[in-house]
Amino acid sequence: MKVMVVENYKELSQKSAQMFYQSIINKRAINLGLATGGTPVGFYQELVKFLKGHDMTECIRTFNLDEYIGLSKGNPNSFYTFMNDHFYKPLNLSDDQTFIPNGKADDLEDESSQYETLIQSYGGIDLQLLGVGENGHIGFNEPGSHFEQRTHVVNLKPSTVQANARFFNSIKDVPKKAITMGIGTILDAKEIIVIANGEHKAEAIYQLVHGEKSRNWPITALKGHSNVTVILDEAAANKV
Ligand code: GLP
Repeated sequence: MKVMVVENYKELSQKSAQMFYQSIINKRAINLGLATGGTPVGFYQELVKFLKGHDMTECIRTFNLDEYIGLSKGNPNSFYTFMNDHFYKPLNLSDDQTFIPNGKADDLEDESSQYETLIQSYGGIDLQLLGVGENGHIGFNEPGSHFEQRTHVVNLKPSTVQANARFFNSIKDVPKKAITMGIGTILDAKEIIVIANGEHKAEAIYQLVHGEKSRNWPITALKGHSNVTVILDEAAANKV
């Protein structure tokens, strides 16, 4: 595992976007695994800057980690809307190159297994971006998750609902369930880049770098992967 500590959020966003850009220009086709949340906002801004105006977005396919259950695509708080605003729309990416689970599917179990199959049918993920929750969750794989799991329905921990309430008008509006790629799905990515900033992420990062592999800290599953880069600001790195 490679750990890079940069000075601030701007640098973290630039560095991670640059690594994605390098991989994209080196490939004729690339499957990107993408994340939502506050952390990657700067990453998307920088990556859009790198890619805009270059005639290379056709080679990109994107697969998002997760989506809330019960929110339609058009809901301002859906992860689809987040992705559309920050990445799909600025780059004019089409529906047949951008994939995200459907949190309004009638049969959510079926939606989960179809999403898993879809990723496999395109040959798997080449490069995966990950943020991390304060409790160590990746995607929406909460503490206690099995490391072999594939895409599935999850119940969110109260602490995760609380942490994500800042994006909603009221905590009551935050969905309590989501569809997420499983840790097994994530570990199949050929390369993984983790980004984290702020002191509230320092414990999860400590567990990743120095802790034992443990289901109590889902991010420690990455210890079993051979190509992981962790990019941190100084606050997130302060226990490393
Ligand atoms: C969410 C997402 C994760 C994300 C995490 C941290 O719940 N499902 O993919 O990494 O929370 O979010 P943030 O970057 O806002 O701290």
